[in-house]
Amino acid sequence: MQTRNIGDVQVGAIGLGGMPMSIEGRPDESRSIAAIHAALDAGVTLIDTADAYHIHADEVGHNESLIARALASYGGDASEVLVATKGGHLRPGDGSWTVDGSPEHIRQAADASLKRLGVDAIGLYQFHRPDPTVPYEDSVGAVRDLLDAGKIRMAGISNANPEQIRTANEVLGGRLVSVQNQFSPAFRSSEPELDLCAELGIAFLPWAPLGGISRAGELGSRFAPFAEVAQEHGVSPQQVCLAWLLAKAPVVIPIPGSSRPETARDSAKAVDLKLSADELARLDAN
Ligand SMILES: NC(=O)c1ccc[n+]([C@@H]2O[C@H](COP(=O)([O-])OP(=O)(O)OC[C@H]3O[C@@H](n4cnc5c(N)ncnc54)[C@H](OP(=O)(O)O)[C@@H]3O)[C@@H](O)[C@H]2O)c1
Repeated sequence: MQTRNIGDVQVGAIGLGGMPMSIEGRPDESRSIAAIHAALDAGVTLIDTADAYHIHADEVGHNESLIARALASYGGDASEVLVATKGGHLRPGDGSWTVDGSPEHIRQAADASLKRLGVDAIGLYQFHRPDPTVPYEDSVGAVRDLLDAGKIRMAGISNANPEQIRTANEVLGGRLVSVQNQFSPAFRSSEPELDLCAELGIAFLPWAPLGGISRAGELGSRFAPFAEVAQEHGVSPQQVCLAWLLAKAPVVIPIPGSSRPETARDSAKAVDLKLSADELARLDAN
């Protein structure tokens, strides 16, 4: 698969998001493992997860543990796979999502993720979401300490605005390698963050690139040009969407979620879909 860079690590230009395998509506474990293996077979080498991808309060890290098991049971070589996890978001078990960006929590959360992933150092650790009760510098400062201590190899942030991107990069001493924000045909307001990442050479990982777990299947019916271009190429509207994202800038690495081998395989093929300037303009204008 064509590659792109996160820091000094090359990864397949399409990643895999683990959330649908572990939150509400998740399938049984064997289907999730098959989806991860299908993605790896297709050349995916970036898997995005978070300690908060779980349902019940007593299963924090459900998705991290699942990914660790899938990598361990993979028949091929998984040594080059970059697992990107996150800390700072929590699920108390009542269906809600809360935040804790305190340095104490980030430290403890990263230690727990390290154990679940079964690695010496986490490949990419992302501060999941700003906590309005904690100065942003302090939360990112905890991530910097993890980097300095060698517990994580690379540092990223998520759900950040341009000012927070600049602040994080400063706190990290220029070592911010990735920003993960929502971006899709339905949600384009992260354009300034994408542009800033392109300018600074920081990887931009669009989350919910297909419109989110419950709406990804409707992409073609909601956004007609994506369905039209898909029909012209004989591919899925979801593949067109991922190719459109890849064309936005060389720093973009979409992380579509999957819980089925078929969708994982289909998404990975987006790296081979070349869209013309005219097609991209039609999709942009949508
Ligand atoms: N940083 C954050 O705050 C944040 C928030 C949300 C998500 N994320 C990350 O971003 C990842 C992606 O977001 P998301 O999973 O919420 O939404 P998404 O990627 O927009 O949509 C996921 C859904 O798309 C379907 N799908 C994937 N490829 C497809 C294809 N080629 N054709 C048809 N359907 C396809 C999958 O269906 P099946 O399940 O049937 O395979 C999956 O459930 C997450 O998994 C997670 O890692 C981060």
